[in-house]
Amino acid sequence: MENLDLNRLPKHVAIIMDGNGRWAKEQGEDRLFGHYHGVASVRKVVEAATEIGIKYLTLYAFSTENWDRPAQEVTGLMTLFVDTIAKEVPDLHKNNIKLHFIGNLSMLPDEAKKALEDATQQTAQNTGLSLIIALSYSSRWELVEATKKIAEKVKNGEMSVDQITETTLSESLATSAFPDPELMIRTSGECRISNFLLFQLAYAELYFTDTRWPDFRKADLVKALLDYQSRERRFGKTSAQVQTNDI
Ligand code: FPP
Repeated sequence: MENLDLNRLPKHVAIIMDGNGRWAKEQGEDRLFGHYHGVASVRKVVEAATEIGIKYLTLYAFSTENWDRPAQEVTGLMTLFVDTIAKEVPDLHKNNIKLHFIGNLSMLPDEAKKALEDATQQTAQNTGLSLIIALSYSSRWELVEATKKIAEKVKNGEMSVDQITETTLSESLATSAFPDPELMIRTSGECRISNFLLFQLAYAELYFTDTRWPDFRKADLVKALLDYQSRERRFGKTSAQVQTNDI
């Protein structure tokens, strides 16, 4: 932790929390056991991100594709989300954390929708860490929705085709209120992005660790941040340009 340069932290860290199922299997337990232990990691990482001074933290909790998992696991996960949110919101609120949810939330059961709306409303005035939970989210879904919004505006004469830019596209995404993540972490050994923030991660540093999500703690986050700080971010420029600040 003392080696971290607090002046060069990423503003936004995004995490694919992977490996709950494998972790549970290794313990001889069922998959939901892994998800329940994954919540403990969420708590620890949120605490650590607040303490370190990260401004935005996005957690991929449930993808559009996850709806195709066995019904028992999907129902168990929905119950876990509702219970966790209800249980954690008072503490999150006390710590000035603002909750946001992104994804195709219309697919969620009514009880879950209500829990998310309440949590968003209760923490709306907070000014600390923005905790963004991606639920029933996929980046391709989000890009299709953004395209529809823009097409609708063009159709209604509110904008012309020439006015469509990277900025208008970015502003039409579910993440329009947040800066793009500079660091994306994926746990449990898979080296892929899995339909997560495809547009927003264009220049993010990607960090993959073998650690399963239920084992991920503050020390693992610090390790990822130190790795991020050891990299030279060039944005397509040359190393010499970056080093002379010519960007
Ligand atoms: C991926 O591991 C994990 C999930 C699909 C669920 C993640 C959810 C939590 C950690 C609960 C978080 C709760 C809140 C409220 C944010 P996997 O099941 O794909 O693991 P595997 O690849 O080893 O099978």
